[in-house]
Amino acid sequence: MTPGSVRCNETFCEMTYIIMPNHLNALDTVFGGQVMAWIDVCAGVSAQRFTKGTVVTASMDHLTFLAPIRKGDVTVLRSQVNWAGRTSLEVGVRVEAEDIRTGERRHTSSAYLTMVSLDDGFHPRQTPTLVPQTPDEIRRFEDAQHRRAVRLEQRERARLREERA
Ligand SMILES: CC(C)(COP(=O)(O)OP(=O)(O)OC[C@H]1O[C@@H](n2cnc3c(N)ncnc32)[C@H](O)[C@@H]1OP(=O)(O)O)[C@@H](O)C(=O)NCCC(=O)NCCS
Repeated sequence: MTPGSVRCNETFCEMTYIIMPNHLNALDTVFGGQVMAWIDVCAGVSAQRFTKGTVVTASMDHLTFLAPIRKGDVTVLRSQVNWAGRTSLEVGVRVEAEDIRTGERRHTSSAYLTMVSLDDGFHPRQTPTLVPQTPDEIRRFEDAQHRRAVRLEQRERARLREERA
């Protein structure tokens, strides 16, 4: 570990929510937009634990809703920084619903967020070095590089579309 570098597990964040009536949609399951907001907050905490400063969300992708979260469930979100570049980083978030009576947990959502570290003038700022250590962390780091290449391609295509419009 070089001075100032950060291990992936130092960025871990877990957040737990009791489902309240204001979280529910007409089907009595949690509103998808609410889950997205919780994902953004959890990822933001991981990103800030890593950068020790301000971050903004540049994108959220690969967001899945695999199963509903029901009234009475407890929702648990877990996040960790997967990869870091010059000023941007990827955070992975996993969401589970827990049936409090049985303790059974179901995987309900996952997402990857790209966040950008900012300085006091709100300009992109150099991130610390991220150190993946476990086999899972190394796999996530490598997978994140592939996802980043796809995102940059999409970003470039969107920029060219804008230019043509
Ligand atoms: C995110 C933001 C700071 C990027 O600014 P920018 O002028 O495009 O800066 P850059 O082109 O230098 O990009 C900075 C980094 O972000 C990455 N990036 C920017 N947009 C990206 C995207 N859509 N997907 C993946 N990476 C992205 C760049 O690749 C670069 O990474 P690197 O330094 O690690 O190589 C700017 O677009 C912004 O402020 N967006 C609004 C953010 C916001 O309001 N979020 C919601 C509330 S938090």
